[in-house]
Amino acid sequence: MNLRSKIFNNKKKIPLNSFINKSLYDLKYGFYMKKNPIGIKGDFITSPNISILFSEMIAIWCISFWKQMGSPKKINILEIGPGDGSLSLGLINTFSKFKKFNNSYTLNLLEKSKHLIKVQKKKLIFNKIKWISNISNLNDEPVIIIANEFFDTLPIKQYIYKNEKWFERYVEIDAKNKIKFLDIPTKLPNFKKICKIDIAKNQKFIEFSLPAVNYIKNISNLIKKNNGGLICFDYGYNQDKMFNSLQSVKNHKNSDILSNPGNQDITHLINFSFLKQLAKKYNLDSEKIVNQGSFLKKMGIIERANILSLNKNFKEKADIYYRLKRLIHPNEMGDLFKVCFFKKKGNKFNLGFI
Ligand SMILES: C[S@@+](CC[C@H](N)C(=O)[O-])C[C@H]1O[C@@H](n2cnc3c(N)ncnc32)[C@H](O)[C@@H]1O
Repeated sequence: MNLRSKIFNNKKKIPLNSFINKSLYDLKYGFYMKKNPIGIKGDFITSPNISILFSEMIAIWCISFWKQMGSPKKINILEIGPGDGSLSLGLINTFSKFKKFNNSYTLNLLEKSKHLIKVQKKKLIFNKIKWISNISNLNDEPVIIIANEFFDTLPIKQYIYKNEKWFERYVEIDAKNKIKFLDIPTKLPNFKKICKIDIAKNQKFIEFSLPAVNYIKNISNLIKKNNGGLICFDYGYNQDKMFNSLQSVKNHKNSDILSNPGNQDITHLINFSFLKQLAKKYNLDSEKIVNQGSFLKKMGIIERANILSLNKNFKEKADIYYRLKRLIHPNEMGDLFKVCFFKKKGNKFNLGFI
């Protein structure tokens, strides 16, 4: 059976989220399940793969947060969706230079893809790492959760308001075996009951990820119980009004969303304003959402690049600054990527956000 048949499973149409879920996470053919899509030879590149400076800034941020929490003797660092393990590798190397912190932390990785777990295990040969299958597997210690380009990989549903009616977006396979979008009249779910927010208010288009909502609920319970926070980096926007942001990427280029299931990434822009409201409803405090460029500059990424480039030849210097520019320039990842930080109520830590 090929992926197309598995996706549709003898049905003519399926909701968009099921299409995304099967395309990305089918155990045999799913995009993330059969290969490592990250890197120059893959389909897209992420910040930790662009420059070590990214992971270094996050490592310093984690250590500062730990100190602000009173330097607890034990702390969990949790990366969700660790991809090829590059961010974690950079964290481990930087943490090793801070003895007290180095003796305190355990690094936990939560990864859905068995294939990527293998890639991570090959890269991360350290005894302080645990692979966990559920957030609830963490022991009761303060926790700092890091999510880079994680939330955008969670499947979404789309709802469209037209002709004074709501429709849900489906994906159908037609008589000629062509995959197409199809909008079907629907009654909207009771969003208020699901996530305490009346999402449909003032919207004509809704993108909704139930897995994302469930992650925020579980993470907020964990943080409320054990102290800590979630820092998350993703491409997205910071306004209430939603729009169709679904896109797909293959071989470092935008591609047609429906034509190549299993062989391309399907993502969407994160609505950070909604994520922040959600965290608030589940009793977390948050800092204002900032651009990735602003956050990294406040963390001292330019100064660190200057230090790293001392005694380097021209070619090596050019490489360091070229990579730095990709992370922070407004026309590259600097503005499109945003950073949000949710934390236990009352915690005043705000490094990088003010
Ligand atoms: C776009 S990659 C980001 C990789 C990495 N964070 C980086 O910055 O390079 C998304 C990652 O999230 C993982 N993932 C997707 N859904 C997941 C889930 N529900 N639970 C755990 N990991 C998941 C994917 O397998 C992949 O490792």
